[in-house]
Amino acid sequence: MARYGGRSLKSSLVLLLVALSTSRSHGFLGTEKKIKSEVFLSPKLVMNPGNAANPFLFDIDFPRGHYGLKGFDAEMVDEEGNPVPLHELYLHHWVIQPYYVRKGFELSQRDMPRNHGFARQDPGRNLGSKSDFILVNNGGLCRNNVRHYFGLGSETRKTSTYLPDPYAIEIDNPEERPDGYEFKWLLNLHAIDTRGVVDKSGCTECRCDLYNVTIDEYGRAIRPDYNGGLYCCYDKTQCRVRNGFDNGEKTRSVYLKYTVKWVDWDSTVLPATIYILDVTDSWERSQGSTGDSQEHYCHIEYEVKPCKTNGDGCVDVKKKSLMMPFNGYIVYGVAHQHAGGIGGALYREDGERICSSMPKYGNGDEPGNEAGYIVGMSSCYPEPAVKVTKGETLTLEFNYSTTNGHTGVMGLFYILVAQQLPEPESSLPALFQAHAKSMSVLAFLAVMVVVAVIVLIAAVVYRRQNREDGYQSLST
Ligand SMILES: *[C@@H]1O[C@H](CO)[C@@H](O)[C@H](O)[C@H]1NC(C)=O
Ligand SMILES: *[C@@H]1O[C@H](CO)[C@@H](O)[C@H](O)[C@H]1NC(C)=O
Repeated sequence: MARYGGRSLKSSLVLLLVALSTSRSHGFLGTEKKIKSEVFLSPKLVMNPGNAANPFLFDIDFPRGHYGLKGFDAEMVDEEGNPVPLHELYLHHWVIQPYYVRKGFELSQRDMPRNHGFARQDPGRNLGSKSDFILVNNGGLCRNNVRHYFGLGSETRKTSTYLPDPYAIEIDNPEERPDGYEFKWLLNLHAIDTRGVVDKSGCTECRCDLYNVTIDEYGRAIRPDYNGGLYCCYDKTQCRVRNGFDNGEKTRSVYLKYTVKWVDWDSTVLPATIYILDVTDSWERSQGSTGDSQEHYCHIEYEVKPCKTNGDGCVDVKKKSLMMPFNGYIVYGVAHQHAGGIGGALYREDGERICSSMPKYGNGDEPGNEAGYIVGMSSCYPEPAVKVTKGETLTLEFNYSTTNGHTGVMGLFYILVAQQLPEPESSLPALFQAHAKSMSVLAFLAVMVVVAVIVLIAAVVYRRQNREDGYQSLST
């Protein structure tokens, strides 16, 4: 009898502890915010077979006001709203970036400082002077480009960008907006129409010979050893199409359809900041290096040569160690790779893996599952969030298969960093846990028995009261 009773006491206590610990892991329920969601269409791109388009679209539709951005999903659609597959229209990238613009100042594509997003730097231009136009950049290290806020490419359909509670990216804090300025959004969309082209993967990798391009967007000669990449598939360039293919009506309009998710801003939302890290960053640790942005030239893209012997060795591993410019906690991570990519990762100096982000390749025809294309990247939600200290060195690693050579490949890593973690919701279970660790097993058992007895007494008293009050539970 006594043994049986002891066991049931223990098991009821275990139940109690389980109940307490589950209530703890659901502790955010109290602050869970109502998610708002809205779908928008970008201005249209008019495409013909072989066309590359890379416009900068100002003042796109976007939720207005002070809020917390929770997610941004996108895909290319046609005039009827049908998803367009990557083998017809390759989405090289979309990137979005907020900016402040002086009220009444009109921006055009020509005003765009080209040292933005994935675009190539224009040495002769210094537009977007602070007085009229201020870009809001990510917190990353690249000084010359990769300054955009967020963006993805062909992988956009199957990549999770959602940021769980209580985190969000703070948008348009009125205290940060300069007087007389408006907060707006810029979209840079780079799409390549590969209907009827002679070499689909060559066109998507921007091989210069297929575009017959020898000078870049700004009229500068392209180095002879540069075989492909963004210099060769800028806005209004043309990839080679099979003879006779584009006879007949092939012109079509396409749009980026994007879904924005957000929550109203208040003190229960914890801000997360975007940092974009580039494996082609020129920075090297040296004596006296400060990690200052002037030391970071980002090439954005690189080339992987085909391997000589087929087999296991056909992998290009590219690494870069960078000094982190922040104190905080990584709550989200995702890599951006091009076709041929076989994974990206972020490590601590001691080799601990913080996040790996792996590509998903399609194996069919339909949008979201196109064979040979990266249709998604896995994202990381480190649990618990990974603490990083300013000045700490983290290492990026990007792998590409070299069974075939590839031009214009990328290795970007996006991380979202919170300055602060949520307070534990309830102090009671924390107390239990701390005690469970520090006390001897015997003392712990003693406490368990005392608690169980209290629970038992409480239950008996409660039942007796119920009986005396004449209440009847509904279930009996
Ligand atoms: C390639 O460009 C050159 C010079 O710009 C031009 O003469 C030639 O016809 C072009 N070739 C093709 C196939 O378009
Ligand atoms: C990259 O390849 C190397 C060598 O094959 C491997 O050790 C590493 O885990 C790979 N990294 C990722 C992110 O896949």
